[in-house]
Amino acid sequence: MSVLAGIKRPVEKEMAEFEAYFSKNMHSDVPLLKIILNYILRRKGKQMRPMLVLLTAGLNGTISESTYVAATLIELLHTASIVHDDVVDEADERRGALSINALWNSKIAVLVGDYMLSKGLLVSIEKSHYDMLEIVSEAVKSMAEGELLQLQKSRKLNIREEDYFKIITSKTAALIAACTATGAKSVTDDPDTIQLMKDLGEKIGIAFQIRDDILDYEANGLTGKRAGNDIKEKKITLPLIRALELASPSKKREIMAIVRKKKKTRDEIDQVIRFVVSSGGLEYAEVRMNGYRDSALAILDSYPESDLKESLKSFVYYTTSRGK
Ligand code: IPE
Ligand code: IPE
Ligand code: MG
Ligand code: MG
Repeated sequence: MSVLAGIKRPVEKEMAEFEAYFSKNMHSDVPLLKIILNYILRRKGKQMRPMLVLLTAGLNGTISESTYVAATLIELLHTASIVHDDVVDEADERRGALSINALWNSKIAVLVGDYMLSKGLLVSIEKSHYDMLEIVSEAVKSMAEGELLQLQKSRKLNIREEDYFKIITSKTAALIAACTATGAKSVTDDPDTIQLMKDLGEKIGIAFQIRDDILDYEANGLTGKRAGNDIKEKKITLPLIRALELASPSKKREIMAIVRKKKKTRDEIDQVIRFVVSSGGLEYAEVRMNGYRDSALAILDSYPESDLKESLKSFVYYTTSRGK
């Protein structure tokens, strides 16, 4: 059994129900949309966000209709955001296959992303779960801000560690915090519990994105995304920020000259990767990531022992050790 399958076990039935609900909403009668939505559905991702919604709900109470609404809404928005992200990042691979922008084109990808985004909003309005919609809309706003800050930083190439954390908190951790916040909100009205779960999600989300950024350097062939895409797009993430900090001024100039180039050869990208690896940039990022992992685990440890707590702990470990 895969690690993810083990984590999912306590909410296996509920995940199946979520999936049926999600697929039903990934449908349109417009022929081109139908083809593309099917293409996306056939290459489903890890579904970590809906899993997190269900696990957090279960940890704090009894899974309800609004839990499913939150899980579906969030997975729709997540899927929309990666379709848009691949346009912004000019990425041609996603989930081990061609991205929508690569297989069709950017215009189509933008519109398909918009379609999924509005479907997500409609799911919560249909069932009158405005509280879920509010939490998630805040997160989506934050994601757009984070992506824009990142773009601005990659134009100027002046990113510091502090900016990096701000970017990843907005672009990734906000939605993962919305998973745990909506999960809790769907089963309790206690504001302290909802806030604690939101904090948990934020820690997991930051660790999740650091792991993603490390994976961009590892090229293990499992991610289904092209390694080195961040360097190609002038995205300076934590491993490179650290490596640059430790480098001599001349080495720094040499590396930055490559990063700044609009078109980079595979050799040049590999040169930056080797520089980061040999400077210990990946180990440093890992230490920082594990700090967030441990804060997340400490929050979970305030709960009594249960299957759900164990699953959530494994979820946190998986987030920081995953190869894809
Ligand atoms: C990718 O998220 C986008 C990031 C925030 C790094 P996932 O790695 O959860 O993507 P899928 O859904 O499993 O493909
Ligand atoms: C996360 O950043 C993007 C989103 C929040 C949608 P990345 O650009 O690093 O994500 P991947 O690596 O393309 O999945
Ligand atoms: Mg990307
Ligand atoms: Mg990435």
